[in-house]
Amino acid sequence: MDRRQWTAFYLSAPPRLPLASVFGHMINIDHITKIYGAIRALDSLTLVIKQGEVFGLLGPNGAGKTTTIKILTTLSKPTSGRAAIGGHDVEKEPLAVKNIIGVAPQEINLDKELTAEQNLRVYGMLHRLDNLGRDIKDILELAGLSERSNHLVRDFSGGMQRRLLIARALLTKPNVLFLDEPTVGLDPQVRRQIWDLVRNLKENGTTVFLTTHYIEEAEALCTRVGILSRGRLIALGTPQELKGEVGGFVLEYQENGNTRYILCQSREEAHSLSQSKKGPIIIRESNLEDVFIKLTGERIGKAEQ
Ligand SMILES: Nc1ncnc2c1ncn2[C@@H]1O[C@H](COP(=O)(O)OP(=O)(O)OP(=O)(O)O)[C@@H](O)[C@H]1O
Ligand SMILES: [Mg+2]
Repeated sequence: MDRRQWTAFYLSAPPRLPLASVFGHMINIDHITKIYGAIRALDSLTLVIKQGEVFGLLGPNGAGKTTTIKILTTLSKPTSGRAAIGGHDVEKEPLAVKNIIGVAPQEINLDKELTAEQNLRVYGMLHRLDNLGRDIKDILELAGLSERSNHLVRDFSGGMQRRLLIARALLTKPNVLFLDEPTVGLDPQVRRQIWDLVRNLKENGTTVFLTTHYIEEAEALCTRVGILSRGRLIALGTPQELKGEVGGFVLEYQENGNTRYILCQSREEAHSLSQSKKGPIIIRESNLEDVFIKLTGERIGKAEQ
């Protein structure tokens, strides 16, 4: 996936955004609450994302990540609050919003009885795209699926299906791309390919909103991250800022069969505290997982609402 190829692909896209929104806030979430029966899936979520950001929403299972994406992509209505993409209200102007976004959902919703090419063709026809044949060929090449274009999707591996799902989301050359757990269950090599793809999109100025359970993914890709816990945004900042809040180093030690963590400002502090600990110890730099544990007492991916 060469950056020049991406640029060429994107340059053939017509401008669809008013300039004001290109230079302003691309995603505006204003006190969104979503209630399902007795469950408050989102609780007054407020967030602004600028054009060109790669924003990562982190949180354990059931935190409200997919609910957020569904509301922003017009698939679900908020119980209260408002949201806009590129200046378009998601409830009042769903068509204008759909015109500028691409979505790769958490659940793979490709038509498995069609080929890769047919999946893209049906999607492109629904979106009334011009130059469909050429764009499908280009996007399949960029996704590394050219040789499998005429194979049925049901015969694809999980990684290939995930890549096709993302390719489909890119076919319309969206200004804003939503990726819900784009690398879940993928091997490290395919995960790296998807990271490269997101980096290329970022170079081209596409705004990316992704959710992930993988801390290293958020650290590798995101300009900013938000941590969601039980529908509430409990932290927001660059990965560096959030790590700085918990201290730069962590002392890990064992106590009664459990791993304990002490957050320290410096390696020296961690060393000095480690003197009183018995058994194996690890001193390492802090990561976003430490931020998450400090804020919630839970590990990402483990908590359930
Ligand atoms: N259609 C629905 N009906 C009832 N409850 C729902 C519905 N969709 C989501 N929920 C609930 O809302 C909460 C948030 O779910 P959501 O799918 O947004 O979480 P998530 O952060 O995406 O989790 P995961 O990491 O498992 O994908 C959960 O408690 C879930 O059970
Ligand atoms: Mg989800």
